[in-house]
Amino acid sequence: MDLTNASAIVTGGAGGFGAATARRLAKMGAKVVLADVAEERARALVEELGNGSVFVRTDIYDESTIAEAVATAAKLAPLRAAVVVHGAPQPKEPGGRVIGRDGARLAVGNFRHMVESYLVAAYAVTSYAAEAMARNEPLASNQRGVIINTASIAGLEGQPGLVPYSAAKGGLGALTLTLARDMAPLGIRAMTIAPGTFLTLAYSEHMTNEQAQAKFSPGIPNPKRMGDPEEYAMLAQQIIENDFLNGEVIRLDAAQRFQ
Ligand SMILES: NC(=O)c1ccc[n+]([C@@H]2O[C@H](COP(=O)([O-])OP(=O)(O)OC[C@H]3O[C@@H](n4cnc5c(N)ncnc54)[C@H](O)[C@@H]3O)[C@@H](O)[C@H]2O)c1
Repeated sequence: MDLTNASAIVTGGAGGFGAATARRLAKMGAKVVLADVAEERARALVEELGNGSVFVRTDIYDESTIAEAVATAAKLAPLRAAVVVHGAPQPKEPGGRVIGRDGARLAVGNFRHMVESYLVAAYAVTSYAAEAMARNEPLASNQRGVIINTASIAGLEGQPGLVPYSAAKGGLGALTLTLARDMAPLGIRAMTIAPGTFLTLAYSEHMTNEQAQAKFSPGIPNPKRMGDPEEYAMLAQQIIENDFLNGEVIRLDAAQRFQ
């Protein structure tokens, strides 16, 4: 997929994975819509990109803002790439194991929050982006667009204490092939990246980089360090450029497996 004279949208575009990806998409020729709630970070990145990319305040719980972000992208240029990589606030209701040490049950609201944040929101962005892409003139390759969702290795193998997150991220894995086959007649591809443990704001806002590396690196076989968001962005670029990648979940985890 050639992004010259195209637009792209990145949910969580001001975040760790999102910002690294937005920089790559801009270098590939796209005007990028940074769809995020973090106005200050997003505006600074828009300025840095300086190629007509824009920030659209987008709350992934508010469908109308998703629609607006997609419509803005499609007005800038044909929307040819969507990368769904937003984070989410902690649930208001308590989490942990389904039945905690104190005998308390994990709240249904906690489960619902994770599914809303990661699965429902991903479908919302995917469907609005696909609707815009379907209106594109196909390229000579017969392709109209590509959509990348972001799961997690926690959605592929169980980890105690992460039932709601695993369910939401696992749902994205289940969705990928179906989406790809469903949208094949339109020339729109669907892929999912399942990252391992990466040093993004999700960690660096709570501890120093050194503390994060010391805590998480021992569980990562090789290279023995946390992932760099740039490595996620490299894969996103390859997925966009390589039309034969479709309907697959790719682990990006340095051979990490949850015990
Ligand atoms: N970092 C990791 O190790 C890791 C591993 C596996 C999967 N992931 C997934 O990657 C995605 C992004 O994570 P990250 O590590 O880049 O996090 P991050 O905290 O660096 O970035 C997340 C971005 O999402 C934005 N955001 C938060 N709430 C939002 C909302 N309501 N609407 C729109 N945007 C919102 C934040 O402002 C932030 O810019 C998440 O789906 C996460 O589950 C991360």
